[in-house]
Amino acid sequence: MFNKLLKRMADTETVIENNERVYAAAAQKVPEHIAIIMDGNGRWAKKRSLPRVAGHHEGMKTVRKITKLANELGVSYLTLYAFSTENWKRPKMEVDFLMRLPEEFLSVFLPELIEENVRVEMMGYHHNLPAHTIEAVRKAKEATKDNTGLVLNFALNYGSRAEIVDAVKNIAAQVAAGTLDISEITEEHITTGLMSCDMPEPDLLIRTSGEVRLSNFMLWQLAYTEFWFTETLWPDFGEESLLEAIENYQKRNRRFGGLKGEEAN
Ligand code: FPP
Repeated sequence: MFNKLLKRMADTETVIENNERVYAAAAQKVPEHIAIIMDGNGRWAKKRSLPRVAGHHEGMKTVRKITKLANELGVSYLTLYAFSTENWKRPKMEVDFLMRLPEEFLSVFLPELIEENVRVEMMGYHHNLPAHTIEAVRKAKEATKDNTGLVLNFALNYGSRAEIVDAVKNIAAQVAAGTLDISEITEEHITTGLMSCDMPEPDLLIRTSGEVRLSNFMLWQLAYTEFWFTETLWPDFGEESLLEAIENYQKRNRRFGGLKGEEAN
């Protein structure tokens, strides 16, 4: 009884502390666009002697928590790397499970996303995706299209090199057709040819699970992004974890290749 009471008090203290951190973080410059490589689901499951897919399922619950907090903090775009063009190499059973996750997530949480004014988007290649996955995303996009809060952008069957190649092909076609001169080609032509063309570039990239690489994720768009790598596995990445990443981001001096503050004087 006494132990239970102590635990309840500790939980209440954590909630109060988190709320204070949320207010403090929201009062400073919040990243407009956060991109996350959600890694470590398999290891989370293995540690518990569970099948890998149990880790993905738990990871789906983290998506809910992090979306909610990002929206509360005033983040405008949250891009989540849910399935890469390379992930097809995984066992069929795992791929099938991952392809069902957007459907499950949206069937359970779509009402909540609508209530929270979140807009669902998807970035990735439709070919190869099962019809049920495309349909679940289409329904969610349609139901949330007029929402003005956070844009929850799922990178699904997404590969950065492939999208850059597509953007280059598009430019080459314009040159071949005589509508664009080579001397007129700018960075803007690549940027507008990417699937993220309607979004600002990410301000903060988070990768969980201790891996320190980009794995073909938004290679062009991350040129000036601040990186945050954490050992925490994605299913364990809670509100405190996101707050820690944002608090650290807020202390950084972004220079975009130039000088800022005192150095510039
Ligand atoms: C990488 O962890 C994770 C993925 C390939 C899938 C990420 C998907 C989710 C977190 C769920 C997404 C939810 C929705 C709603 C789409 P891993 O399996 O490579 O982990 P490991 O490196 O520990 O093996």
